[in-house]
Amino acid sequence: MPHAEPPTHMTATVSPSLAEAESLDDSALIRRILDYHSAHLRDLAAAAELAEEIASAHASAAFPERLPGELRDMLDELQEHQAREELALFPAILKGRGPRLLAPVSTMTSEHDDVQDRLERLVRLTEDFTPPAEASASWRRLYDLCRKFDQDFRTHIQFEERVLFPRVTESSFAAIK
Ligand SMILES: [Fe+2]
Ligand SMILES: [Fe+2]
Repeated sequence: MPHAEPPTHMTATVSPSLAEAESLDDSALIRRILDYHSAHLRDLAAAAELAEEIASAHASAAFPERLPGELRDMLDELQEHQAREELALFPAILKGRGPRLLAPVSTMTSEHDDVQDRLERLVRLTEDFTPPAEASASWRRLYDLCRKFDQDFRTHIQFEERVLFPRVTESSFAAIK
């Protein structure tokens, strides 16, 4: 089969949401990011609770027994990561640029990798958020919630790693030169 060229509107490397993020100043961009932080904690807490209910109610062999624990661990890890950004890094960025921001930005980026590893495990555990045919309505709702979290998280990380953090590091390196 001949290789089909992707439609031109899909070839852009910058998604519309990323382009929108680039148009925001630091303060507005951080406000957008904080909306994602709140949504993540809300969605992950709801998903963990739902997973615990399903695990205890169904006791189905097909339900991934590690899922409730994975979701709780991810919620704890993300809560700590986001608190470090909200209480330290973001206020420091809003005070001004400088080389002092390079180390915290690098720490936050490596923490993103840890959460992304967890997310990959979640994708494998849920078979790409695909419930089996016998799944109950709450099981399906749980996977929909996990999928939403996955998409939101990837967007949020792009806002930080492709827009906010490069602004900080580029200006900080320029200040060192
Ligand atoms: Fe964040
Ligand atoms: Fe982050």
